[in-house]
Amino acid sequence: MNEVVIVSAVRTAIGRRNGALSGMRADDLLAKVLRGLVDRVKLDPAQVEDIYCGVVTQVGEQGFVLPRIAALTAGFPLETPGITVNRQCGSSLTAINLAAGSIAAGYHDCLIACGCEIMSKFPIAAEWFGLKLADGREAGIPWGPGYMKLTGGQFVDQGQAAEMIADKWGLSKEELDAFSLRSHQRAARAVEEGRFKREILPLEVTLPDGQKTCFERDETVRPDTSMEKLASLKPVFGTRIITAGNASPITDGASAVLLMSLAKARELGLQPRARLVTCAVAGADPVMMLTGPIPATQKVLKKAGLSIKEMDEIEINEAFAPIPLAWGKELNPDWEKVNPNGGAIALGHPVGNSGCRLTVTCLHELERTGGRYGMITLCTGGGMAPATIIERMD
Ligand SMILES: CC(C)(COP(=O)(O)OP(=O)(O)OC[C@H]1O[C@@H](n2cnc3c(N)ncnc32)[C@H](O)[C@@H]1OP(=O)(O)O)[C@@H](O)C(=O)NCCC(=O)NCCS
Repeated sequence: MNEVVIVSAVRTAIGRRNGALSGMRADDLLAKVLRGLVDRVKLDPAQVEDIYCGVVTQVGEQGFVLPRIAALTAGFPLETPGITVNRQCGSSLTAINLAAGSIAAGYHDCLIACGCEIMSKFPIAAEWFGLKLADGREAGIPWGPGYMKLTGGQFVDQGQAAEMIADKWGLSKEELDAFSLRSHQRAARAVEEGRFKREILPLEVTLPDGQKTCFERDETVRPDTSMEKLASLKPVFGTRIITAGNASPITDGASAVLLMSLAKARELGLQPRARLVTCAVAGADPVMMLTGPIPATQKVLKKAGLSIKEMDEIEINEAFAPIPLAWGKELNPDWEKVNPNGGAIALGHPVGNSGCRLTVTCLHELERTGGRYGMITLCTGGGMAPATIIERMD
């Protein structure tokens, strides 16, 4: 197997719903990220053999084959292909894992894996909600009778699944809110100390009010939130304890990593920043749905022959507070090393973008701290989870 390395990694700052990125076209946003990614290491884009892009809601300007359109928009050669990957919230981490596998096998030497989602324009389920067949009938929903048998005919959405997890692991509303408060406090500290500066690509954007600005700061971090404010928020999704405060907000963003075989990076004189140690993917209960990171973490650590204590940095997606908390009860991590710069509750979770965004953040945090191993994992709709371990290289 070829050694697979990350040579460049970049992300946009994350925009709040109807915020700084909401006026952009998805292809233009991703084009800027792809251009920034290669320009940072002065790579001729003709070297890029394919672009694997995580995007969940593949409609409108996020439809067709987003990375192909974005690559040509970015001025990459006409020969640059692209492919979209959809594993719901695990899409762009899966794009990284697929690209890494292809390089490891020797099929490719130089690939981009990326993610992009503008949830302000394309809400979850927009690709099927209200869709009509050619004859005018409703197009239907993706969950057929065979799948619904598993849920007893009941439709469980993400928020309800998050509450089921809180109930199963005995997590109180106070614990969820305390975790969420810490996410904001850590993200606020990271912003204040400029920890995200190297990973964020500043973008010229036009705000909804027509003003032009340079966008380079995550928009949903609330340094002034408190347990009292969080306690005052009303439950959502028909639950008792899930609120806008302990869920990830609707957001927009894009990110990308440049992957190469170690031999190719050396041939081009590029500095490898991390190697991909191994990856895994798990399936879990489709009703409780968001518990996948537990088996995915167990699997990826076993494959790597490493323990959770050997991870210097862990990025687990905070889709809702019960997910990392239940995972923590099973895996017993050092919480100082879990989402040290906050997570999706504070920073947002543009679904197709998040896996790649977490990888970009994990790499930069390993570089900042001098840590060795980093792990990334996310829960997904449908009860799955990818996971990846990287090792920083000097
Ligand atoms: C949870 C959710 C429904 C909330 O939507 P919303 O009500 O439109 O959320 P908002 O961001 O407008 O927040 C609602 C209110 O809570 C307040 N709020 C949210 N977080 C807060 C915090 N940490 N501290 C204080 N106030 C907060 C907001 O200011 C807002 O108050 P306002 O109405 O006075 O302006 C939405 O964010 C969501 O769907 N999240 C999950 C997305 C998802 O499923 N992703 C996939 C995961 S698997």
